[in-house]
Amino acid sequence: MQSDFLVIGSGIAGLSFAIHAAKYGSVTVITKGKMLESNTAWAQGGISAVLDKAKREMGDNEEAHIADTLDAGAGLCKEHAVKTIIDEGNATIDDLVNFGVEFDRNDDDSYSLGKEGGHSQRRILHCKDTTGLEIAKALIETAKKLDNVTILEEHFAIDLITTAKLGIAIEDRIVGAYVLDEATGKVNIFKSNQVLLATGGCGKVYLYTTNPDSSTGDGLAMAWRAGATISNMEFVQFHPTCFYNPSAQGAEARSFLVSEAVRGEGGILINAQGVEFTKQHDPRGSLAPRDIVARAIDHEIKKTGAACIYLDVTHKPKGFMKERFPHIYETLLSFGHDCEKDPIPVVPAAHYQCGGVTTDTDARTTIQGLYAIGEVACTGLHGANRLASNSLLEGNVMARRALRYIVKNLKHHKSIPNDITIPSWEGRDATPPDELVLVSHNWDEIRRLMWDYVSIVRTDNRLQRAARRLRNLRKEVREFYWGHTVTSDILELRNLVATSMLIVDCAIRRKESRGIHYTLDHPEKNDQYLSDTEVRKF
Ligand code: FAD
Ligand code: SIN
Repeated sequence: MQSDFLVIGSGIAGLSFAIHAAKYGSVTVITKGKMLESNTAWAQGGISAVLDKAKREMGDNEEAHIADTLDAGAGLCKEHAVKTIIDEGNATIDDLVNFGVEFDRNDDDSYSLGKEGGHSQRRILHCKDTTGLEIAKALIETAKKLDNVTILEEHFAIDLITTAKLGIAIEDRIVGAYVLDEATGKVNIFKSNQVLLATGGCGKVYLYTTNPDSSTGDGLAMAWRAGATISNMEFVQFHPTCFYNPSAQGAEARSFLVSEAVRGEGGILINAQGVEFTKQHDPRGSLAPRDIVARAIDHEIKKTGAACIYLDVTHKPKGFMKERFPHIYETLLSFGHDCEKDPIPVVPAAHYQCGGVTTDTDARTTIQGLYAIGEVACTGLHGANRLASNSLLEGNVMARRALRYIVKNLKHHKSIPNDITIPSWEGRDATPPDELVLVSHNWDEIRRLMWDYVSIVRTDNRLQRAARRLRNLRKEVREFYWGHTVTSDILELRNLVATSMLIVDCAIRRKESRGIHYTLDHPEKNDQYLSDTEVRKF
């Protein structure tokens, strides 16, 4: 396969890019599993943007959105990236509306704006509580209609192919990717001069997460193996309110998010005694930025020995939840919980990867022709902690910026040399796996150890222990990977272990507490660490 643009991933970032890029050349979008298996499709609260009308009538402005983002980011945001991305808020909303997204409106036809933790103003556009699903469906419909776009579901990118990997002595640049066709088990070569990594995050590294099964850090691990610079992986954001449902069967039931927007509309976090304990940690209480709220919950759970805390909406008028948050209301009911009658049991869970493949504000990575967009990338927007609802915005903005850069500089791009030979995958001496217990055991072990040793509250000791165990696991997984024909499960396990190691490596280096990286051994900020944590495979 050869195309002008190879897009890996079908969330907001990948599809926004593909749709716009179709005007300039052939686009192949590959995605593992089905199109709707993405964090994008699960997004609830909405997308942040300072609309012109809100500026005129509500006194909001980009400066305030920038200030809130910088405040949440705890000193590590790159101001240029923050400004660049936030300034394109109006353009993003126009773009999504053009694709067919219908954001909720008030009676006077203006957009209905929600509020979430850390935002000083109402500026979250939403489609009830299924904003992501509406965006994903609109993008998929639009992309499917374009002749220049080929979408291949059940195509799993295994590794990036670069000139350095092929041993070609020219400047390191991307050549394409090895891709597993999940239906046939065959591995094919996809060639392209421009490869867009849009593979999302890595929530599945942790035992408890709000993310779908597809979030296994694949793009991050691939970019790292290809030699790209990776930054700030210690900053994994934990969402404060994942439904606590211990008897649930299936990933979706265990990972069900109760949107922060519920607190934006008056929901309050309480303990079993009905005390609003978050106020003891921050005057903003339940609507403080996520790192503060998640740590307050962790503290409360450890102090009281309770299994969970509660999100109380019982004081809201009857019918409010059903009208404003129908998906949450109905899903909770299907789990046997009536949130109008009883406070919702919730716990924090891994939610968002703030670090990622290092890029500039044109989405360029350190490898020529390789761009990273969306959650897989680290642009500098989020710093040490992402402000709620800034990621859908970033995904769309960075997709458009990447394309603008590529188009503007097309004539300067070096093409793949014609005489280049890419070795076929079949050359490997591998046999079908006879025992898959190693895969399932190691999956569970990684996710449990990351939860126990590398989650909301860390210590030097726990991190060192995690690093030691991960080194052994990596060796086992590597032997298994090289000895056997590949399957999606083996590939995800390989990526999970690599991503976990990167998180731990970065966390060990940061001997301070900042944003969502909190360690009992270094509980204060230390400005000696006021820079990104960068790692690269040599
Ligand atoms: P994704 O949407 O995750 O898409 C990644 C794609 O890459 C998927 O299609 C996946 O299958 C594919 N892929 C991965 N690996 C491979 C591979 N090896 N080969 C081929 N394909 C691959 N953010 C907000 O701004 N507002 C919200 O309200 C909000 N709510 C959220 C609620 C939940 C429950 C979750 C989990 C996240 C939420 N977020 C929200 C975060 C936001 O949804 C994500 O950060 C954003 O959607 C990421 O978009 P993306 O395109 O980068 O990645
Ligand atoms: C939510 O709806 O609470 C998630 C918002 C986000 O992660 O940005």
